[in-house]
Amino acid sequence: MEKVTKLFDRDVLAVSDTAETAKNDSPCPVCVLRKKGGESLVVGIESGEHEVKKVMLRGRTRATWVHEKCAEYLEVAADVKDEQAAQGVADQGIKESPKSLDGVIATIASFEGRKAAYQAVMDIGPGELHVHQGDGNKAIVKGAKHACFDQAVKLSVNREPIFLIGPTGSGKSYMARQVAQATLRRDGEELPYSEVPCSAGISEGHLMGKLLPTGEQGSFEFHHAALSGAYGHGGFCTLEEIDGSDPNTLLCVNSALAGEEMALPNNPTEKAINRHEDFVLCLIGNTWGMGADRIYVGRAQLDYAFLDRFALNVIEVDYDKKLEQVLCPDQELLDMLWKWRQRISDNKLRRIVSTRTVAKWYKYQHELEISKDSLLEAYFGGWSEDERNLVEHGKKEDDDNE
Ligand SMILES: Nc1ncnc2c1ncn2[C@@H]1O[C@H](COP(=O)(O)OP(=O)(O)OP(=O)(O)O)[C@@H](O)[C@H]1O
Ligand SMILES: [Mg+2]
Repeated sequence: MEKVTKLFDRDVLAVSDTAETAKNDSPCPVCVLRKKGGESLVVGIESGEHEVKKVMLRGRTRATWVHEKCAEYLEVAADVKDEQAAQGVADQGIKESPKSLDGVIATIASFEGRKAAYQAVMDIGPGELHVHQGDGNKAIVKGAKHACFDQAVKLSVNREPIFLIGPTGSGKSYMARQVAQATLRRDGEELPYSEVPCSAGISEGHLMGKLLPTGEQGSFEFHHAALSGAYGHGGFCTLEEIDGSDPNTLLCVNSALAGEEMALPNNPTEKAINRHEDFVLCLIGNTWGMGADRIYVGRAQLDYAFLDRFALNVIEVDYDKKLEQVLCPDQELLDMLWKWRQRISDNKLRRIVSTRTVAKWYKYQHELEISKDSLLEAYFGGWSEDERNLVEHGKKEDDDNE
């Protein structure tokens, strides 16, 4: 049999080096695949009888066990290895930010509601964030940590909505995915994750489900949308670009998002669903990069009734310098980019030096070895000469004439 890089449709992330004696009975997923190839094998792992190895799969917090012999068929795919290598750079800095567990427990314990079931405790592991759910379950989250991460996780594990507002490229979408990873279902399994881009043009059916001709002889059947599915069956749903959406569309989900029941206007058999106890809502919106500015967002699109429902759930995700130090471990480069950002802000230019740019600049210059001159030309392409002088050299137009 050829090498296998996925089990249960999930990427193999790691296989343990050493074998141990199985402590539980379970089927071996590699044997199942080998059997499909015509081999006759004992599929079961029996406790005390078999030597087994641990396999970590993407999205699973618990290890999967396979026979020691079967582990030889497993391999981490090349693209997964690349991804892990890239992540290694980001992970370096996590160790540098230890957290007091007692402090976090105390803060969370003061939360109203489901605090007994959902105490979230953060500790920092080697290269990853470990988020304990207070019920013996632990989620492992990849990536470096934004300063706002803890606050977002506290809301999320308590099933409170989060509303991330911040300038482009500050790490909102990345953080939403990390927070989703950090939030386990009550049975300890991962929460299904979905993202809905809410730019103008999105219809009610995209949020609350629609009828499609998928039944027998083309008859119509109701299909949940990502949002209504997560709402009714549990899941972490991110509504992206919320400030770019049509306010009328959001109005129809307003009460559901803040309440306990969502109407399903397109479902002929079930007119409404109750909010599942494992539904987590994440809203994401943009502002310009001069400090978060909710008024701008509100004026642009969002209805005040909508904003009011989430007023206490807003987390302002600005550029985080500590995170940027992790993503760009070249202080000289950082100082240059941070100076530009300051000048852009001082002069109220509609230009951005985002965390995305910082991370990419570091990667391009140090890993892809693209020259600094090429990067400068690329970054300032399309800028006026005055703007560039002002930001790159701090020179005003008049300075040259003095
Ligand atoms: N915590 C993090 N760990 C590692 N990389 C990160 C992290 N946060 C942000 N990045 C890097 O910055 C990039 C931009 O982040 P992200 O896409 O989340 O920004 P955003 O705030 O959603 O931007 P936009 O408003 O434009 O959608 C990511 O693609 C990633 O490369
Ligand atoms: Mg985004």
